[in-house]
Amino acid sequence: MKYFVANWKANKNVNEMRHWLEEFLKGYRENEDVIVIIAPPFPFLQEIVGIVKNLKNVKVAAQDLSSFEEGSYTGEVTAKSLRGLVDYAIVGHSERRKYFNENDEIIEKKINLANKYQIKTILCIRNKDDKAFSDTEMIAYEPVEAIGTGNNASVDDVLGLKKSLSLNPTTKFLYGGSVKAENVSEYIRSDEIDGLLIGGASLDPADFLKLIPQL
Ligand code: PGA
Repeated sequence: MKYFVANWKANKNVNEMRHWLEEFLKGYRENEDVIVIIAPPFPFLQEIVGIVKNLKNVKVAAQDLSSFEEGSYTGEVTAKSLRGLVDYAIVGHSERRKYFNENDEIIEKKINLANKYQIKTILCIRNKDDKAFSDTEMIAYEPVEAIGTGNNASVDDVLGLKKSLSLNPTTKFLYGGSVKAENVSEYIRSDEIDGLLIGGASLDPADFLKLIPQL
């Protein structure tokens, strides 16, 4: 099974979101070996969940969740609110660590809350110094120098990092950073890489579809 996570980050308005889904659904063929996870901005989650709910292998993720369980935290989106809506949540993305000062302590709280509310986490780590928490569904290795730069990490580097983590065998291991049509097959070919976290190349549905092996 290979996972393809489309991380839209803080992009798209309502019309662009609908256009993306229309184009994606025109080109997408269900493949039992592939799971697509769409991670849009929060306001679009509910509509997208409604649109893809009959597709067995298309799931929806939040890009983040609050480290607070509930209460007076204006603007926060909690695991409790997301429960039953999304299957997955990304946590610890390097952009959250950089612009919102997230650290391992905050990330641990998010993972615990996600687990409590039955949301599977996709934990992003930048290198081996970021804690690879064990109670996460997936770990995505995303070296900062590869994100949005066109300098994707080599498969050897990705596997070297994976080895240093001594992951629990059930944890899925993803790579992210400048994945595009020209380099995607290198990663897909490796049995050690369970999937890809895709930013820039997920924004255009045609580009994104090119990354997914279709039957
Ligand atoms: P990129 O982003 O594909 O644009 O490099 C990946 C990510 O930050 O998740």
